[in-house]
This record gives sequence, C-alpha cells and structure tokens, in this order.
Amino acid sequence: MTDSQTAAQRIAQLRSELDAHNYRYYVLDEPSVPDAEYDRLFRELKALEEEHPDLVSAESPTQRVGGAAAAAFGEVRHEVPMLSLGNAFEEQDLLDFDRRVREGLADQLPAGDLFGGGAEVEYSCEPKLDGLAVSLLYENGRLTRGATRGDGSTGEDISANVRTVRNIPLRLQGEGWPAVLEVRGEVYMSKAGFDALNARQMESGGKTFANPRNAAAGSLRQLDPKITASRPLEFCAYGFGRVEGGSLPDTQVGILEAFKAWGVPISRELKRVQGVAGCQAYYADIGERRDSLAYEIDGVVFKVNRIDFQRELGFRAREPRWAVAHKFPAREELTELLDVEFQVGRTGAVTPVARLKPVQVAGVTVSNATLHNMDEVARLGLMIGDTVIIRRAGDVIPQVMQVVSERRPADARPVRVPEHCPVCGSQVERTQLVKRAKGRESVSEGAIYRCVGRLFCQAQLKQSIIHFVSRRAMDIDGLGDKIVEQLVDKGLVKSPADLFTLTYEQVVELEGFADLSTRNLLSAIADSRRPSLARFIYALGIPDVGEETAKLLARALGSLARIERALPEVLTYLPDVGAEVAYEIHNFFADEHNRKVIEQLLDETHGIALQEEGELAAEFAACATLADFIAKLDIAGIAATGAKKLAESAGDLEGIVALSQDWLTLSVSKALNEKAKQSLRDYFADPQRVARARAIEAQLREFGMHWQSERKVAEGLPLAGQTWVLTGTLEAMSRDVAKDKLESLGAKVAGSVSAKTHCVVAGPGAGSKLAKAQELGVAVMDEEGLLALLAAHGLSA
Ligand code: IVH
Repeated sequence: MTDSQTAAQRIAQLRSELDAHNYRYYVLDEPSVPDAEYDRLFRELKALEEEHPDLVSAESPTQRVGGAAAAAFGEVRHEVPMLSLGNAFEEQDLLDFDRRVREGLADQLPAGDLFGGGAEVEYSCEPKLDGLAVSLLYENGRLTRGATRGDGSTGEDISANVRTVRNIPLRLQGEGWPAVLEVRGEVYMSKAGFDALNARQMESGGKTFANPRNAAAGSLRQLDPKITASRPLEFCAYGFGRVEGGSLPDTQVGILEAFKAWGVPISRELKRVQGVAGCQAYYADIGERRDSLAYEIDGVVFKVNRIDFQRELGFRAREPRWAVAHKFPAREELTELLDVEFQVGRTGAVTPVARLKPVQVAGVTVSNATLHNMDEVARLGLMIGDTVIIRRAGDVIPQVMQVVSERRPADARPVRVPEHCPVCGSQVERTQLVKRAKGRESVSEGAIYRCVGRLFCQAQLKQSIIHFVSRRAMDIDGLGDKIVEQLVDKGLVKSPADLFTLTYEQVVELEGFADLSTRNLLSAIADSRRPSLARFIYALGIPDVGEETAKLLARALGSLARIERALPEVLTYLPDVGAEVAYEIHNFFADEHNRKVIEQLLDETHGIALQEEGELAAEFAACATLADFIAKLDIAGIAATGAKKLAESAGDLEGIVALSQDWLTLSVSKALNEKAKQSLRDYFADPQRVARARAIEAQLREFGMHWQSERKVAEGLPLAGQTWVLTGTLEAMSRDVAKDKLESLGAKVAGSVSAKTHCVVAGPGAGSKLAKAQELGVAVMDEEGLLALLAAHGLSA
C-alpha cells in the first residue's frame, strides 16, 4: 500500500467518525464524545488533508468554513413550488380548518357515529420556527444545492452558504434514501446564538440585529460564505420537494423520522395526534413552553399525517388544504413613541423610559418600555414621534427594538437629557469614564447621566432605603417598598440612619399599621442592628459594589476603618477589583455626606454594631509582589518583565527611587533598556509621584503586605485556590450560609461543575450537577461531610 492509500483510508475513517459524532450531537442531541476528542479527530483530518490536497472533498467536515465570495447569487427554479401556509389565529379558525379537512376526506374516512361525531383525522404537529425556508437537494446522498424560497417558484442559489451550517449533513447516512431527494426546512438562529452574535457585533462595532429571524436571514444571504460560517445558524427539516429514484414513507411523521435516520435534523417536538382535540392540546403545551424553548417560534403547524390524504386534499391558491399554521400572539408590535421621560435610580442614574401609545403585545397592554441609557437611544437613532417596533417576551420588560425610519413624521423631536433632575431639581451631570494609563488620567464621556442630589433627591433616597433594608443587605423584615415610600414622603426618613430612630407613634400612624404590626416592624429594625461587615458594606449601595465585592472587601480588609481609608491603588490588589470599582469605593467614602450618614448609623443613638472580622486576611497580605507594584505604577516602557528585573535589582521602593535619581548606577544597570531608564528618571523626577508611590507602599505595608518574589495567593486559608459547588437541599443550614462558610475558608463557590471543580457538596434532590461531577470524576461529599470539614476548621453550622 502506498502512503497516499493509507492516508486516504485514514481520511475516510476520520470523516465517517466525525460524521457519526456530528449526527449524535446535532440530530440525536446525545453527544458521544467530549468536545476535546472531537477537536482532536478534526485536527488530525485537517492535517492529513493539508498534506494530501488531492484527497480533499467537498463533503469533508473540514469544508464548513466557507469558500470564495460570490458577486451575486444564481437563480434556482423550484420544480415543485415552495408554498406557504394558511394561518389560524383563533381557535375557531382551527376548528374550521379541521372541518374542511374532514369534509374533503368524507369518502375516505370511516362514517361518523349516530350522534353526529365524525371520524378523527390524524395530524402531525410541529413548531413553526421563525427563520427562513430553505431547500436542500441531495443527489445520490450528496448535498448538491441549497436554495432560498424566493417567490416560491424561483429562489436564490445559496449552496456555498448552506454547506457552512453545522447541522446540515453534507452526505446522507444510512440507506434507503431516494437517489434525488429535496429536503425542505427552516434555517434559524437559537436565542442564545442570537444573543452571542449581537454581543459580538456590538463589541466590534458591527450591525446588530433586531431579532433572531432577521439575524438568520441576514447571515444566510451573505455573498461571502465565510461570514455565514461564522454565524450560529441551525437547520430543521419539515418537508420535502422533489423525490426521484426511490420513495418516502407514506406519512408526514414517517418521512421526518426517515430524515432523522438519514442524518437530517428534525424537530424534537414533532408529535402525532388524533383529531383536532389533539391539535388543541399540542398548541396549549407548546404555548406554555414557548419561553423555555431554545429558539423563537411564532406558532405551531398541523399537517394531515397521511400523504395520500394530503394528495386528495390538494391546494387552494398557494396554500395546502392539508396544513395550517396556528399562530401564537405576536411578541412584536408597532406603536408610536409619544415621549421619553427620565427616571432616577438608586445611584442617581437618570435613565430614559419610553412612553408609548398603548398597544396590545402578546395579550398585555404595553405603554412603557425601557431604553437603558443614552447610548441605546443613540444606537436606535430614536426620536420622539417615531414609529417603533416593541417586543415583549415572557416576563422580560418590554423593549424598543427598532425605529421604522420610513415612518418618521416631519415634526419628530430629538431625545434630550434634562439639565435638572425631574424629581429634586438638582443638576444632572454626565458621568465621565476616567482611564488611567501610563501614570496619566484621560477622561471621556460615559453613557450614564446622574442626578447629583443624592439622598436629598427623594427618588434616590427611596431606592437607597429599599436597597438598604433588602434581604441580602440589612434584611429588615416587613419594610416593603410601599412603606418606605410613605416614610420618605412623610419626611420621617431622610437617610438610612433615620430608620433606627423611628418611634412607635410615628409608625402606628402609617397607612395599614396597627399596634401589632408596628411593634413587629420596630423589633425587626432593632434586630438588624448587628450586621456582618459584608452586609453593611453591601447595604450602603456603593455604585458597582455588589454582594460579592462587599464580601471580598470585608474578608480581605477586615474592618470598616480600613475599607474607608483604602487608597484606590491599594484596592486594585484585591482579586476582581479593577480601577473603576476601586475609584467608586474610594470616592464613596471620600464623600462628606456619605461619611456623615455612616458615622450616624454607628453612633450611640442609632446603635449599629458591626460584626467586624478585625483581622486582615492572609490572602490579601500575600497577594502583592514588588514587581506587581512597579508594574501597576504604569511607568512608560516598564511592563511586567522590566518591573520584575527592577524589583530584583533594587529590592524595595526606596531602592528604586534612589536608582532613578542615581544617573551613574542607572546608566550601567542591565535591568532596563535606554528608553525605560529615561522614563523611570522622568517618572520619579516628579515629587508628587514619589509621594503617591510612597503612600501606596506605606498603606500596603500597614495592611500587612510583605514584598516577596513569588505571588502566593490566599496561602493562609485552608481551601484557597479550590472551587466548590453546592447542589441539592442542605438541612443544617441554607446553601447561602454554606457558601459563606466555604468562602471564609478561602474557597470559591461556583454555580456549575467542571473538571476544575475541587468538590461537590450534594444534598438530597441533587440532579444534573451531581451527575456531571460523577461523570468527570470530581469528589462528592454529603452534608455530613461538609459539617465535619467546617468543624475541623472551627466553624459550626
Ligand atoms: S410547512 C406547503 N412546516 O412557515 C407547506 N412550514 O408560513 C409549506 N415554517 O415558508 C411549509 N416551520 O418557512 C412548514 N414545521 C413547519 C414550519 C414551516 C416554519 C415556515 C416556512 C414556510 C412558512 C409558511
């Protein structure tokens, strides 16, 4: 055997193995090997094909990347026209359809009973995917052509593009397929694929799509198939066109099942039912699950299952008499943008809200929609008076998707941010994005506008209090939003501190309060007086500081005093704290008004006693190196490597400052190149910079940092560097509490299991996470094991 013969054999073997994996993955939904194994086979095939270009074939799984771009699409005539479907909007439309079917088949169906009930027709039920119809021609089992529907009789030749769709088989598998088989179906984009694509487009400044349907159509009709290849398209078969040199099963469901056996993906929701009652139940079931399906559907399709009955019924105009699309209520509607108002949130962010001409969307009247921020308004190109497409799906807030620019009236007005807060009249300022690099600050305009009124602004005050008392913050039971509003409106609460001086007489006067409820609320407030440091920090509502960051600050720095004083540069040594968050934290505590509120909260009158940890976490003390410190100073030309060399040769900050001023030693130093030497001199020639660097270093030392040559993360904590997952129910404590405890031992607690997971704690009722852990060979322990572990480290449940 020659070398190329053995290569040809191996190539054939790899292709059929990859095809089989693809089939299990895309058609059966049961992946057979881990992705890594698939990738390995794929790479081997690719390498072999590169070595033997003569053995490359169009059907190879490697050929899905898209070939050369075309100047225009060719035309394809559909020998069997591609028709559309009649719609049923109301239940009555469906009943009428079924009646017409039964009348049309009167001769074939068994006679009805004495009570007038006719015989039932068997239907095939399928979801109506919202994408675009495509015809795939297989000749001798090979995909030879792909076409769009076009006007039904002539479509566009998109052969090169359909070949890039991962789940469209390039060869049919199994046996029994007709020599010529035209498969018809829908190319669509899953909701997740759509979101990912739009995020990618947004990042790269490309065009975003209004919905998955547009995204699918826009992606498939690309003259450059490489673009199509990069888009997350999928195919689902629902019918057939030309069939020659063989035959298909004699029912719709039978045909789709044969397709599946031949490797052509079909819907997982395909179902055969009896009579119109079966259709109604299917419609209700899919309607209920509409939001949890991975893709958008706009209805379901019912087809007479027997193909001979379909032939008997035939067509009327361009619609089959044997099928109907039963539509779901639309999720997108057109309406008019009457105005844009501005709402003020907890952090003072002034956000635009669309006031719409009321319109029914998916059964609900919509008159408001969120616009997020002014960048979104600009992206949409929105003007007041515009006709807009709005969308409401599931329990998501209605969204403005698109402007119908052709309908813009002559008197349309631009959207303007108010100069003064609509609630308190304070100045509204545009936030600035401060970028710090190379020791310099550069400022650019942000997308967010803020009312500067803070707690003087009733809107911010209300939201701040609502956040302050919420379950994961101070956890004051019985202080709902409506009560907070009353307290603020009546002027009883002007800052969070005022909650702690509320009197019986004040509360009992509130709407809905009586003796018992008043005493309950006051005791709930009193009970909240000993929060953990982390909860307290979270409750303060520092912009960008969520629960996790609050926990981190509390654990790492151990006391409120240290958090208040921490320099922003020092905060950036904490894992996951970037410069922006660090400055938010610093600015919050630098603010005089905020300081006053905190001081009040902690004074004797208000009586909050923080449960501080007091100690600095070892993980923090050990997380910096001198080289990091130098690199973070952002001296031009001195990055990681230069900083490391400098740290090694100079030993500490004073050594570096001295070196920068000692021209002679510096000029012979081998640690840096000429440019870096010059910028080091320039940097420390500025006394302010020297002072700042010293201040940072001093604080790092004060906070327990000790320079060392190697980074040792969280070395002091027993579970440092480990990722744990909690699943199922725990009895001795809630999952939240268990999470806190594990974190206090240095572990990271994650929501999903991967090969990197250190251990899974599984309580009763554990399901897929436990299964995954077992599959990956990750250690599993029960609650008893967890309790023992905690006890071993001095923690109780
Ligand atoms: S059958 C002659 N089945 O809906 C029958 N169509 O409104 C032709 N569609 O152009 C179509 N899912 O793009 C059929 N399960 C399904 C479908 C489906 C989506 C689309 C298809 C067609 C349009 C008709």
